[in-house]
Amino acid sequence: MSFDLGLPVNTALLLYVMYCIQRIVWPSASAPKTVPNEFKSSYTWMPKGHPPTLLFKTYTPKTLSPFNGQNGQRILLAIKGIVYDVTAGRNFYGPGGMYANFAGRDASRGMAKQSFEEDMLTPIDQPLDKLEDLTGEEIDNMRGWMDHFSNKYIVCGRLVENDAT
Ligand code: HEM
Repeated sequence: MSFDLGLPVNTALLLYVMYCIQRIVWPSASAPKTVPNEFKSSYTWMPKGHPPTLLFKTYTPKTLSPFNGQNGQRILLAIKGIVYDVTAGRNFYGPGGMYANFAGRDASRGMAKQSFEEDMLTPIDQPLDKLEDLTGEEIDNMRGWMDHFSNKYIVCGRLVENDAT
């Protein structure tokens, strides 16, 4: 078998092999010396601004309540004194969502008793629910939800009494 350089296909193949070898041996020779202008300013995937910074804060029932997802607002809820940012679960907690009643509220009792009835929520001007009447099973249930929320959402604060801040 012979390699006939007279054949155009063989010549093309040889040139291609030489080009590949040159790229491996002298990689910088074929790299652009400067960043072309079109790459300097046209990153279409760059975010317009920095996403809002999430600060760990202390909330009270009153200061937590505005975070109920209305008007595109962030959605927070609390379980047993821990505040979770559940904005990513807007379909669940946003306006019209199945669990919208928990948005901006202390959801501890509802999570423990597996109920989204209104009477699971303590009015925001009342002292925090002490949860003293919960059964062991209900507390386990609540802790199960806390595990779920800790794994899925961001812990962004703690909930204290209205007059504690
Ligand atoms: C009518 C009965 C119910 C149905 C059909 C139902 C259905 C669902 C479904 C489909 C999910 C989504 C699961 C997933 O994709 O991760 C979910 C999640 C959830 N459910 Fe229910 N549910 C019911 C009752 C309740 C009750 C009574 C509560 C009260 C605490 C509750 C609290 C939750 C919570 C907290 C989540 C997690 C949402 C999240 O990951 O942010 N559910 N439910």
